[in-house]
Amino acid sequence: MNNQNNALNELDMQRISALLYPLSIEEFMRDKWPGNFQCSTGPVERLAELIEHPDFNSIDTLVRAPGIGDIRADFTRVQRQSRLVTPEHAVELYHSGCTIYTNNFASDVIQSWKKTLDTAFGLIPGRAQVNAFASTSGTGLPWHWDSQEIFIVQVKGKKRWHVAPNEDIDWPTLGGRPGAESRADIKHQFRTPGKPVAEPKEWDTVDLEPGSVMFLPRGYWHRTENIDSSIHIVLQVNLMNWRDVFLYLLENIPAFHSAEWRKPTLALTPDKLMTDGLQEFQARCGLFNAIATPQGLAELAQLYSSNR
Ligand SMILES: [Fe+2]
Repeated sequence: MNNQNNALNELDMQRISALLYPLSIEEFMRDKWPGNFQCSTGPVERLAELIEHPDFNSIDTLVRAPGIGDIRADFTRVQRQSRLVTPEHAVELYHSGCTIYTNNFASDVIQSWKKTLDTAFGLIPGRAQVNAFASTSGTGLPWHWDSQEIFIVQVKGKKRWHVAPNEDIDWPTLGGRPGAESRADIKHQFRTPGKPVAEPKEWDTVDLEPGSVMFLPRGYWHRTENIDSSIHIVLQVNLMNWRDVFLYLLENIPAFHSAEWRKPTLALTPDKLMTDGLQEFQARCGLFNAIATPQGLAELAQLYSSNR
């Protein structure tokens, strides 16, 4: 983090030091980031900006936080898909046992934390996200993994996490759960394609309470049990990778939507494949080289950042 360290102001340093406590920023970046699990507990006061923030005070303040985006309810106890709900419905569902998920907190403190995370982890501005989850005691989320680097900050109550490294996949670009080997969108990412993806046989268990922070690397298995009513915040770092960048390019750069790219080609017939077909294919690939310039990369970064 040497380079980024230079850009961190005093407040950024305080926040990141509090998050990584008791490790120093240097120790965390050297020994943990971005692929190694880490969990620790320390004084609540060091993270008071988050833990005592009025948005995270209760289920009622959470779902009515200024600027709140999507509110989702996970019907974990009846195994139904999560869905978008209104604040009023979310409160009702929370009391009936659903986990409630929210994002897009507009307060100055949370916006400022997102900037701190972007700076500290060398992200394009706007990349880091802050989400929150609330749940009453009982069954939590089943075994799954996520496709971002995340810091879990426990705000209220106690929550039990079972965690395990993922032996089936490295650096997934999509989240998954047992049985994911058959999914078309992720099946090529497994170490052994086609091998059934089963839940872990061994795991560690950690109880998070206010003052605890857990770093879950991308792909790390986890499942939860709610011991008390609980609220936790997820600081989502979201490192970039080339697969996501190229998917983004194809969808968002106007040149890839031009008539040349859209019109039906007659060059992919078997008799023309290795002549006209190859020539057209090389010309299309040439567009990637044409935008691989300092200016092209700067524009891509700008576009990516402004679209989030
Ligand atoms: Fe998760």
